[in-house]
Formats: sequence, C-alpha cells, structure tokens
Amino acid sequence: MDSNHIADLLSHPRVIETREHMHHSVPKHDHMMRVARYSYYLAPILGADRRTATRAAILHDIDSRLGTLRTHGAIAAQVAAELGEPEMVSRAIVSHMYPLGPRPTTREGWVLAVADKIASFTDLTSFVGGLFTGRSLKVRRQLCVTDPFYVARVTRRRRRRLIGRLWKTIGREGLSERP
Ligand SMILES: [Fe+2]
Ligand SMILES: [Fe+2]
Repeated sequence: MDSNHIADLLSHPRVIETREHMHHSVPKHDHMMRVARYSYYLAPILGADRRTATRAAILHDIDSRLGTLRTHGAIAAQVAAELGEPEMVSRAIVSHMYPLGPRPTTREGWVLAVADKIASFTDLTSFVGGLFTGRSLKVRRQLCVTDPFYVARVTRRRRRRLIGRLWKTIGREGLSERP
C-alpha cells in the first residue's frame, strides 16, 4: 500500500493514540491499518476513489466506544469532519457497520463496509494465532492497562465490589451499632 494518501493522518495524535486502544482484542490501530490496506486495494476494483476510501478507513473507528454498534459510525464521521476531512470521507465512515447501521450511499462507503468485515475476520484469526505463542494475551493485558475505557471499567468494578462489601458489613452489624 502506498501510505502517501494517509501519511498526515498516521502522524495525527488521534490516530497515534489508537495504538493503546483495544478493538476486537487487538490494538485498534492494527485494525484500522488492516481496513486501510484492504480499502486501498478494493477501491479501484469497485470503481471508488482510492484516497477517500483509504482516509475514511484509517479514521472509521475513532471514538467507537462512545457509541453502540449501530451509532459509532456517526461518531467517527463527526470526528473526521472536525479533523477537516471532506464530506465524502464522513459519508463513507457513517455506514461502515452496514447492515447494522445505515446503508452505504457511495462507492467508498461500500468499499469501507466490505473492508471492515474482512479486517474484523483477520483481527480474529490474528488473535487466535497469537494465542499459541502467548502474544495475543500479552498484548490484550497491556491494552487493558492503556485503554481508558478498560481502565474506567476496572475502576467501576472495584467501586461496585467496595460498595457490595460495605452493604454486607452494614447489613450484619446494623447502622445503629456503628460508632
Ligand atoms: Fe466500526
Ligand atoms: Fe472497524
């Protein structure tokens, strides 16, 4: 793949930080690079604009945790617009989860929807392959520490456990007996 189409985005902090985020149990950056590669090669086959499709691909799951399976395309499309990408990039991103989200309305949208499905399968095979060497679980553990979503989840779980213990103690001893 000629990465000239996305060189500026690859050095953008919003894309760089995805190296520390988890997606399909692999670094989100790996997933988005796979989608970018597949989009790059699929675009001319489907008569789509290669640059638009590749740029949409490298941004398509940014901030995906803020939405659901159906809505995160719209969130990433908004981020792309805020980064100054043309409307065609956002239009491709918004429908990348099809058929779970809206139907693609452009050729680039179809390229991205297909490339994302293939990459999701490749993420899985790469993860399973790495289970035999221990690499997948090692990377996953690292991502649980660096991904703010998982860090927050651990904190929430700890807080729930603490509250549960407090309730049990209060239930046993009774509030009135406490000093
Ligand atoms: Fe997605
Ligand atoms: Fe994706």
